[in-house]
Amino acid sequence: MQRLEIPERILRRLRSAKQVSVLTGAGVSAESGIPTFRGADGIWEKYDYRKLATPQGFEDDPRLVWEWYRLRQIEIGKARPNRAHEVIAEMERHYPSFSVLTQNIDGMHRRAGSRNVVELHGNIWRMRCDRDHTVIDLDAPVKDIPPLCQCGSIMRPDVVWFGEQMPLRETEEASRAARESEVILVVGTSAVVYPAAALPILTRNSGGSVIEINLEPTDITSYADLSLFGLAGEIMPALWRSIR
Ligand code: OAD
Repeated sequence: MQRLEIPERILRRLRSAKQVSVLTGAGVSAESGIPTFRGADGIWEKYDYRKLATPQGFEDDPRLVWEWYRLRQIEIGKARPNRAHEVIAEMERHYPSFSVLTQNIDGMHRRAGSRNVVELHGNIWRMRCDRDHTVIDLDAPVKDIPPLCQCGSIMRPDVVWFGEQMPLRETEEASRAARESEVILVVGTSAVVYPAAALPILTRNSGGSVIEINLEPTDITSYADLSLFGLAGEIMPALWRSIR
């Protein structure tokens, strides 16, 4: 069982906090077997994001994009939430106000029992039509490719692609939560994709503490109050044990 070195000042803050946020990235789902984006085995090492995760790529070849999203839906559908997701869900039941701000589209936080989840980059289990604004929730990987809307247009995955804006309501909600939180835990993100990566700066600028959990240093490390390096599935349970 892992023991963490956590300064008393930070433990006190974690114990007395009324409002806490967690910002998560692909690293929180890595131990569920869902690959991250960057690094040696990352998705963007193997696949061309321009073809698969941009509006232009979708316009050029919607079938290719959907084939890839279907593969990811199959992979994610088989995965199970891990200890990090579970601890985050448990924390929500403990703190009076708790928000999960996630860049992940895999829906794992809700599956683990988190309720107040703000999905900044959409959800792979949803598709939408940009012509008549139909939104469809999926409970299984898409069958017909490309899926068509009742209006005849091709539907798209309801996710944020490169060059697209984050959804307005989610962005506002996440910014407010980050500003108001006394502590933000930043778990498993390389923190290179903005504006999500700027959320911990909002917490810091309003006097809150930033605690980072990652395998390695990131841009957050330079201003974090505490960085804990290791597997999220080990650090998060250890951190939670130290707080309670
Ligand atoms: P990245 O793949 O960029 O970063 C994953 C981070 O998780 C890295 O910093 C790893 O060191 C860390 N990590 C990996 N395994 C871990 C583990 N078991 N425990 C703790 N940390 C671990 O993923 P994101 O930061 O989520 O956007 O990427 C941000 C956005 O870029 C994604 O939402 C996606 C991508 O392109 C869009 O598709 C719009």
